[in-house]
Amino acid sequence: MELKSISCAFEDLDLLMLKDAVKSKYKGSVPRCYLHSYGCQQNVSDGEKLKGMIVKSGFSLTDDEASADLIVINTCAVRENAHERVFGRLGELGHLKKNNSELIICVCGCMVQQEHIAEKIKKTYPFVSLVFGTFAYSDFYRMLREVIMSGKRVFNIEEKKSEIIENMPAERSSSIRAYVSVMYGCNNFCTYCIVPYVRGRERSRPIDSVVDEVKGLVNDGYKEITLLGQNVNSYAYGFPKLLKRLNDIEGDFWIRFMSSHPKDATKELIDTILDCDKVCSHLHLPVQSGNDEILSKMNRRYSVEKYLEIVRYARSRCKDFSFSTDIIVGFPGESYEQFCDTKKLLEKVKYDNVYSFVYSKREGTKAAELEDNISVKQKGLWLRELLIMQREITEKWLSRFVGKTLRILAEDNGKKEGTLSGHSYENIIVEFVGEKKLIGSFVNIKITKALNWALIGEIV
Ligand code: 5AD
Ligand code: SF4
Repeated sequence: MELKSISCAFEDLDLLMLKDAVKSKYKGSVPRCYLHSYGCQQNVSDGEKLKGMIVKSGFSLTDDEASADLIVINTCAVRENAHERVFGRLGELGHLKKNNSELIICVCGCMVQQEHIAEKIKKTYPFVSLVFGTFAYSDFYRMLREVIMSGKRVFNIEEKKSEIIENMPAERSSSIRAYVSVMYGCNNFCTYCIVPYVRGRERSRPIDSVVDEVKGLVNDGYKEITLLGQNVNSYAYGFPKLLKRLNDIEGDFWIRFMSSHPKDATKELIDTILDCDKVCSHLHLPVQSGNDEILSKMNRRYSVEKYLEIVRYARSRCKDFSFSTDIIVGFPGESYEQFCDTKKLLEKVKYDNVYSFVYSKREGTKAAELEDNISVKQKGLWLRELLIMQREITEKWLSRFVGKTLRILAEDNGKKEGTLSGHSYENIIVEFVGEKKLIGSFVNIKITKALNWALIGEIV
């Protein structure tokens, strides 16, 4: 498919006109914007780009919702509770609007890309002035200006099939770790998942654009780059090739990525991870279920055995290789025995980290039409069972690092006073006593203890 890659002229007319509108509305003072992103890293990354555009238009950013002139809620659609949180939040924002009629409230992202949600907001939340989906970023300046100038409500959830926007400004929340999107959208249509409906078909950024962005970030001092895509293994120009190109960039930094689909996780991918020193030794490989019948009903297109083959290959090359995964508990029609197959898989693989979710019915997906006769309460109990078991596995499996020295990127304060926290090359949280000035640098830590969620160690 021919891709239209817009090298966005972000200094263009729309921006200039928006800046004028902002100046005249706020009479020369700097208005404030509060933006919150729900959901996955891709959404957080989109939020950072929106913040970049908002700052360019003349706003400053604030963490204080109550004093903001513009509030942007960047939404997620993956599970029902994300929807509920946004509607709850909108109820609260209605009160702010009552006290400040000039307040501009904007709702954007995956959730509102669904027509029935955009309609609901149109009807039920009249104080929301701007609603736009995941394809409308290139129209942001024009839309915001229209809201400011005309006072009218603007809705834009049109799907643009082949657009990729390059060179968007970004206000990144960290100066140490940065997200870089390498592809957008998803073609897989797993039967439970709303993502292909709200983010459209796969579009990959050209290798050179990604390489240039990463070079820029490394020059700016970033120490860890996480490449983002719904399924990076279907990156159109070859994901291992991209990793090798990025690994050749000079500098002391790490490369991570997520997510990978097991159906096209290859030995070449594992070899590339292990052979490229800057690419961290860890693979997030969402398995979703340990039962072949459920995997087939999910349209995952791999078997448990095929999945285990990749795990065995990685561990044959590196016996401590670190995996993490996503699990869905209580897919429609799943029996307790089938759920137990997932527990057995967790025992076999030994993940360092498992993100598990109760199945959430998404309107418009194939799984939403399947009969579902297990109660949410029952599913919650299964989830608990799984979490308790996994905590034990994690604690035992993490103990393979006790006595070893790991390289850590110090990222933040730790849980206990005087400690710092970071991730190891293997993506394991490590906490240790250290001075704040170490935040942002790599440190060697000798591991003294394994917990069921992290490692504890001391500076060598
Ligand atoms: N219900 C529960 N979990 C879901 N996920 C995606 N869709 C659903 C759903 N309908 C989970 C999957 C995916 C992760 C990002 O979210 O495990 O890997
Ligand atoms: Fe959803 Fe499956 Fe695509 Fe992941 S690969 S975004 S789970 S449809």
